[in-house]
Amino acid sequence: MRNIVVLISGSGSNMAAILRAAQQEDWSVTLGARVAGVISNRADAGGLALARQAGVATAVLDHRAFASREAFDEALGRQIAQFDAGAAVPALVILAGFMRILTPGFVAAHAGRLLNIHPSLLPAFPGLHTHQRAIDAGCHIAGATVHEVTAELDHGPILGQAVVPVLPGESADRLAARVLAQEHLLYPRAIKAFLRRPGA
Ligand code: GAR
Repeated sequence: MRNIVVLISGSGSNMAAILRAAQQEDWSVTLGARVAGVISNRADAGGLALARQAGVATAVLDHRAFASREAFDEALGRQIAQFDAGAAVPALVILAGFMRILTPGFVAAHAGRLLNIHPSLLPAFPGLHTHQRAIDAGCHIAGATVHEVTAELDHGPILGQAVVPVLPGESADRLAARVLAQEHLLYPRAIKAFLRRPGA
């Protein structure tokens, strides 16, 4: 069984979409994969309750309790390994609204099995406030990207994208909500395609 460990910081709606797809599509049978654990860097992340309701193990690692980024990422790696104990293949690590920049050491240790969803059509608008920046730039389309994580923030091979038209006069919040609805379809689909790759 291939373990999936999901990292969150907030409401966890992408995580919930992944859990829903895994359950409805019986990923343990169809893909030999299961969500083994959810880790949040914030104790108040709404997604933690959703994960617990779905019967998934959770852990909280408050980044403020660590002296350095390296120390936090080492603890993160240990918690992932704990959720993955006994597995034959190392876990797939899914960043789902995980708002921490990872150290090059962590990224290297999980290279090739670390995915992220970013709320823009990369390579446009890496970083924060993507929807407002797309509106300010006069973009007619916005969207989201699932990509492999590499050492450079919001870069790395693109695995899938969802495109959403920017409606005249709409707010960044409204656009974000419409993009998020597409993220919920995109991310489970991209994870499935990734797990089906030979040697993934
Ligand atoms: C999502 O829109 C995701 O793309 C974004 O945060 C939101 C999390 O929502 N991620 C980033 O901005 C990463 N830099 P969720 O917690 O409800 O899934």
